[in-house]
Amino acid sequence: MSKEKEASSQAVFCPPSDALQDIIPLTLAWHNIRVARKNPSDVVILDGINGCALPTEVVALMGASGAGKTTLLNSLMGRNLKGLNVTGDILIGGTKDVKIVDVSGYVQQEEMFMPTLTVYEHLSIQAGIRLSGLSRKDINQKLSEIMEELGLVKCKDSIIGLSGIKKGISGKNF
Ligand SMILES: Nc1ncnc2c1ncn2[C@@H]1O[C@H](COP(=O)(O)OP(=O)(O)O)[C@@H](O)[C@H]1O
Ligand SMILES: [Mg+2]
Repeated sequence: MSKEKEASSQAVFCPPSDALQDIIPLTLAWHNIRVARKNPSDVVILDGINGCALPTEVVALMGASGAGKTTLLNSLMGRNLKGLNVTGDILIGGTKDVKIVDVSGYVQQEEMFMPTLTVYEHLSIQAGIRLSGLSRKDINQKLSEIMEELGLVKCKDSIIGLSGIKKGISGKNF
């Protein structure tokens, strides 16, 4: 491997030095997850599903369309479970006492962006809703830090847009 390639692959696997300082590594583990439709009650979607996500590792959940990937993720997050019965154990850091929504974020397959907002406007509104306990000054401070960390400063005033419909940011322009 060339020196340049070696350096860039190291950069990918080394967490930014201060960015992760306040993060406590937690393992998410699930055991014997069973998901069944309430009506008709004999339709089982998932059965005997076990797995874990270790800190610093990326876990890919793979399967054909309809295999139950979204149902499993929803079950782990406790969301969109109307009409379903979910049983099994979900452990965070080895305990059931931690609420997953308090320690994690969930990004939908289809992100819900307003195509007419700029990157900054979107983040600012989201932060205002999610960090409602903080003052606007602290929220703005956090926003600046996060945009800097994620390399979004350059495109903060760009319109988000909608693929194929409204021109906006894209992977290339990021
Ligand atoms: N709330 C629900 N009620 C009834 N059936 C559901 C519900 N959610 C998912 N299913 C069914 O469970 C199966 C798995 O769906 P899903 O988890 O969306 O698969 P994937 O994400 O792997 O494509 C599908 O047959 C789907 O119709
Ligand atoms: Mg899915």
